[in-house]
Amino acid sequence: MKKAQLFALAAASAITLAGVSCSDGSNSTKASDYDKEIESLLSQMTLDEKIGQLNQRTGVGLTDEMTGAIRAGSVGSLLNEVDPETVNALQREAVENSRLGIPLIFSRDVVHGFKTIYPIPLGQAATWNPALVEEGARVAADEASSVGIRWTFSPMLDVARDSRWGRIAEGFGEDPYLTSVLGEAMIRGYQTDDLSRPNTMAACAKHFAAYGFSENGKDYNSVWMPESRLRDVVLPPFKKAAESGAATFMCSFNEINDVPTNASSYLLRDILRDEWGWNGMMVSDWGSIMQMVPQGHCTDLRHAAAVASKAGVDMDMESYAYIQHLKDLVEKGEVSEKTIDGLVRNVLRLKYRLGLFDNPYVDLDSARRFYTEANLDGARRAAEESAVLLTNNGILPLKENVRRIAVTGPLMDAKHDQNGTWCFDMEKEHTVTALEALTEMYGKDRIIAAPGLTYSRSTDAAGIRRAAAEAAKADVILFFAGEEAVLSGEAHCRADISLPGAQTEMLRALKATGKPVVTVIMAGRALTIPEESKLSDAVLYVFHPGTMGGPAIANLLSGKVNPSGRLPLTMPRMTGQLPLYYAHNNTGRPASGIVLIDSLELEADQTSTGCTSFYLDAGDGPLFPFGHGLSYTTFKYGPVELSATEIAPDGSITASCEITNTGEREGSEVAQLYVRDLVGSMVRPVRELKAFEKITLAPGESRKVSFTLDGADLAYTNAENKKITEPGEFRLWISPDSQAGEAVSFTVK
Ligand code: BGC
Repeated sequence: MKKAQLFALAAASAITLAGVSCSDGSNSTKASDYDKEIESLLSQMTLDEKIGQLNQRTGVGLTDEMTGAIRAGSVGSLLNEVDPETVNALQREAVENSRLGIPLIFSRDVVHGFKTIYPIPLGQAATWNPALVEEGARVAADEASSVGIRWTFSPMLDVARDSRWGRIAEGFGEDPYLTSVLGEAMIRGYQTDDLSRPNTMAACAKHFAAYGFSENGKDYNSVWMPESRLRDVVLPPFKKAAESGAATFMCSFNEINDVPTNASSYLLRDILRDEWGWNGMMVSDWGSIMQMVPQGHCTDLRHAAAVASKAGVDMDMESYAYIQHLKDLVEKGEVSEKTIDGLVRNVLRLKYRLGLFDNPYVDLDSARRFYTEANLDGARRAAEESAVLLTNNGILPLKENVRRIAVTGPLMDAKHDQNGTWCFDMEKEHTVTALEALTEMYGKDRIIAAPGLTYSRSTDAAGIRRAAAEAAKADVILFFAGEEAVLSGEAHCRADISLPGAQTEMLRALKATGKPVVTVIMAGRALTIPEESKLSDAVLYVFHPGTMGGPAIANLLSGKVNPSGRLPLTMPRMTGQLPLYYAHNNTGRPASGIVLIDSLELEADQTSTGCTSFYLDAGDGPLFPFGHGLSYTTFKYGPVELSATEIAPDGSITASCEITNTGEREGSEVAQLYVRDLVGSMVRPVRELKAFEKITLAPGESRKVSFTLDGADLAYTNAENKKITEPGEFRLWISPDSQAGEAVSFTVK
C-alpha cells in the first residue's frame, strides 16, 4: 500500500548499508529524446567520468585545481559563476580539454530576476496574471543566459500556509491551483517551447516535496503529512511542472513522515518518474545528501551517497558525497553501475536538451543584456499588478491638487530591501525607490521626506518624533513600513509576524498628527496588521516589489494605475492563528456566536461560549481573506449560471457570471471560481479554487466570464490513495475572494 510505502522507506534505504541494492536505477522508463546520443556517450564513459557528471560544485573562478578537475571530467555543473568570460574559459576546459568534451552546465538562483528584479514570487502571485509571470521569467532568462547561466533553481512550487516560514516569499502562496498555473507560466517563460535556444534557462521545480509544510513554520523542520493531503495540496504544482516539461527538479531538505526526501524512491522514482512519466534531471538541495547524517537517517557520507543515488537523486549539489564515495560503493557492489548509469543519463539528457553540445559558449558579442527599457517596463508592470489594496476609505488615489505629501517610514528609500530575498545579482544603483519616484512625479517642493525609523527593526523614538513633526506639515502622509529583505527567505523565519521594531508606534504618532495616513507595506510574507489597518486611511500591500517598485508605487498612489492585485495567501490577525488558509475543513463545530476574551463574564460557565471552533483572543477567520483586493473602481457580480444541475463523474459543467464595472474608471477584476464538495468519504474543504480569470473593464462595461470544469477537476484522493470524483452535491461560487459570493448547487450522479 502506498501509505505504508512512505513509512517503510526508512527501513528500505537502511538495507543499502548492508550492500543490498533495492533499486535498479531504471528511472527513465519512458522512451525519451536524445536516447541514441546518450547511450553512445555513456558507452564511452569510465566510471569516474560518469560520477563526475553527477557532481555539482560552486564556481571559484579559473583556479588550477578547478581546471584540473574539469579536464579530468569530475565536474558536471558549476553554480554561481556569473562572469561570461570566466564561464567560457571554464567551458573550454570541459569541451576542448576533457577526454569526452562533455560541456558543463552553469546554474544560479535566478528567482525573481537576474539584474532587473521583479517582485518576489509571492508578489508575482498577487498579480493572478500568468502572462505577466511568464514575461518576468523570460526577462530573467534572457538576462541570465547572456552571462552563461542556463539553469535556474526556480520556480519554488512549495504551497505554504504559514507566514512564519521565511521562504513563503519565494513561492506563490497557499493555494495548489494558483501555484500550479503560475508555476507553469514561469517554467514556460524560462524554457520557452525550445530549450535549446541560447537565451533559455532550464527551470527547476523545487523543493520536492512538502517543504512549505515545515512544522511550526520553522525552516528545515520535519513535515507530517497524510498521503491524501500530499497528493491534493502539495504535489499538484509539481505534477503540472512535470507535465509542462520542467527540465529539472530539486529535492527538499525536509523529511516527510520521518523519511528524508533525498532517500525517498517513492517520491523520486515511483511518483515522479513512473506515475507522471517525467524524464528530467533531479538535483539535491545544497548539501541535502550530507544532511541525511544529522537527520539521523544515514550513518555517514558514504551511506548517504548510497541512499540518495538509489533513491534517484541524479546530481549532488555541494555534499561531495557522490564524488567521494560512489566509486567505492560501486566497486564493493553496494550500488550498481546500472543505478549510476540511470542518473548519468538524466544529466546528459539535460545537456542535450539545452543544446550545450552544439552551442556551449556564451556569445560575448551579445553578453550582459541587462536593464533594457522593455525589461524595466515589465518589472514596473509586474510591481503594479502585484500590489494589493487592502483597505481604502477614499483617500486613494491621492487628489491631484494635494499640496504637500509627507514621505516617511523605513522602507521609503530602501534600495536594497525593496528587492527582497534571493537577489544575488541586484544592483542598488538601478533600483528606483518610492521616495525617488514620488519626488520625480510631484516635484521636490511638494515632498516632505523624513524616514523616522531608518530600518524596519529600529526603535528610535527620537526619529519617530522628528518624522511626525515634519509629517504634520503635509496634507497627506505616506508611511512606508514593512520588513527588510533579510527578515524573510531561507532560514529567516519569525515566530511573531507583526511589524518589526517601533513601526506601529510610529504609525500611532503619525495618526496623532490628525493628517490622513496611507500605509504602504513591503514584506516577504503576510504580516499581522490589525491595529495598523485601523490606524491607516488606506493600506497598500506591495510585498518586495523589486527594481521598479518606486515608479509602480507612485503610479498606484497617484491613480495613474488602478490597483488590481489579489492576496495569494490568507492574512491572519495574530500569529497564533497559523497555519491559516481558506481551504480548511468545516469541523463539526464551525465558529458561531464568537465571544471574545474581554466580553467573557466573570466565572462564566465553561459552555457559555457555545463551544464552537474559534480563539478567545483572535476570534475566527482572517484579517483579510485569500483572494481579497480592492480597486479604485467597483465591480458587481451577477448571478452564477450553470450549464446543468447534474453531471456524470466523467462529464463537465460550465459556470458563468456577468461582471460589471460599476465605478467611474477602468479597472481589472479577478473572478475566482471555488467549489465545495459537500459530503465526502474524506471530509472536503469549505472551498477550493478551481479556476480564475483576470479581466479589465471600462466604466459601465459588463462582461460574462465562463469556466468549464471537468469531473476530474472535482476529484480528490481518497483513503485508498485513489483519485476519485465522488457522487453528491457540490456548491460553486464565482466571487471576488474566498469568502464572498452566493453559492449555486449541482450534483454529480
Ligand atoms: C536552497 C535552494 C537553492 C540552493 C542553491 C539552498 O540552500 O534551499 O532553494 O536553490 O540553496 O543556492
